[in-house]
Amino acid sequence: MSLRQFIASRKFLRHVESLTNIATLGWKEVAGLLGLHDDVFYNPQHKKIEKPVTAILIGAGHRGTIYADYASENPDELQIVAVADNNAERRKRTARKHKIIPEHCYKDWKDVFIKEKFADAVIIATPDQLHTAPCLAALDAGYDILLEKPIAPSEEECRLILKRAKETGRIVGVCHVLRYSPYFRELKEVIDAGLIGEIISVQHMEPIEHVHMSHSYVRGKWRNSKMAAPIILAKSSHDTDIIRWLVNSPVHDVHCFGNLRWFKNANAPEGSTERCTDGCKVEDSCAYSALQIYYRDRKRTYVFDLPEDEDEQGSFILEQLKTSDYGRCVYRMDNDQPDHLTVNMLFENGTTAAFSMEAHVSYEGRKTRIMGSKGDIIGDMESFVLTDFKTRKQTSWSLKTDAHGGGDHRLVKDWVQAVYQQNKDLLSSSIEVSVESHLMAFGAERSRQNRTIEDIKL
Ligand SMILES: NC(=O)c1ccc[n+]([C@@H]2O[C@H](COP(=O)([O-])OP(=O)(O)OC[C@H]3O[C@@H](n4cnc5c(N)ncnc54)[C@H](O)[C@@H]3O)[C@@H](O)[C@H]2O)c1
Repeated sequence: MSLRQFIASRKFLRHVESLTNIATLGWKEVAGLLGLHDDVFYNPQHKKIEKPVTAILIGAGHRGTIYADYASENPDELQIVAVADNNAERRKRTARKHKIIPEHCYKDWKDVFIKEKFADAVIIATPDQLHTAPCLAALDAGYDILLEKPIAPSEEECRLILKRAKETGRIVGVCHVLRYSPYFRELKEVIDAGLIGEIISVQHMEPIEHVHMSHSYVRGKWRNSKMAAPIILAKSSHDTDIIRWLVNSPVHDVHCFGNLRWFKNANAPEGSTERCTDGCKVEDSCAYSALQIYYRDRKRTYVFDLPEDEDEQGSFILEQLKTSDYGRCVYRMDNDQPDHLTVNMLFENGTTAAFSMEAHVSYEGRKTRIMGSKGDIIGDMESFVLTDFKTRKQTSWSLKTDAHGGGDHRLVKDWVQAVYQQNKDLLSSSIEVSVESHLMAFGAERSRQNRTIEDIKL
């Protein structure tokens, strides 16, 4: 991209008023300029919403609640007018929060579609295995959709959703929330501005901090690839999407190695018991003690639907540890998700990428190295440093990280605008590209299972 083209770019125009003499600017100044501003999400195409978009929430669990909270904070933009969830408590809580009339509270997603279309859109945040059917029903009924990732747990279902989305012409936003983190958005802008030339290769690492791994992929809802989806899809489809987005080219081939090395029966320590509450002899020295994580440290307790009264919470958690999967020994589960894997990707433009997902780490926060024709970038999700090969000058960007909710709500904001303006281009990803990033994950899983190199074709 030439400097002239860059000056015409949206990002540059945003800051043009602060410049006195554009002609004197070189790339270095432009790069510095990019780092000075934090409103990387400003979109001049967004319009004032005159009448809020109305949406039905299907699945009022952890994720659904976060998306619906956008409506509570921005009632002029989005209203949740109905809820479907087979958990009565979550249904009631959502109805109370969003003032939903009893006739619009459904026990099952299917009940929503018995009626004629009565809202603009549907938010689907049900478990992985329950995305396809409500999504197809919503498309057939004429709703626009916000769909949690993964789109669906199988390649066939993803393709079916893509086909139906094209046929109906409806808007399907997939929740690629990482694209809405300041870090990746700024990285993308710097790359698209040509500051490191053409991308030659990428190294990207996703550390799943070890307790997070035990919570979600050993004890939790995603522990078994047949019950949920393979971890490369369930967890790392964010990363296949991000790599595809940064490289900006369709993928050609993928290859994967990986296995479940540690969280299995053979590694159960002597003296350990079925549950941490069963008098386990090594409980106090185990990094995965459920008593330590959920009861003493009160971490990740959102999975328990805790009683509001804090005095009741301790005994409630203990009871959950005696009865739910979260109290079971990490070495005695029916988990099959790999705890480490590496994926090699070759893109159609010749770029290569090496991705690794690691569970045996003490930290979170993705690490990325991008090698370009004119320079390189080293980043860690909080900051990144660009080195220009010619000048050796280094420019660094420090980005304020925000909780997951920050990115989630920016994603909803874009989606609401897309639905309001009936303009798919306002979404960060098209459904085609979203499906493609899922095909990369399915291909990687096939490669891991069959020791093959997989050709990826949309
Ligand atoms: N984008 C991300 O970063 C991200 C992060 C975590 C999870 N997810 C995905 O979000 C989805 C939801 O995950 P979650 O953690 O919120 O799960 P959750 O279990 O907290 O919520 C799912 C909800 O769906 C409800 N449900 C189940 N069957 C139903 C039915 N027949 N009709 C209506 N509702 C039904 C459940 O009662 C539950 O309340 C999953 O697909 C998950 O993989 C995405």
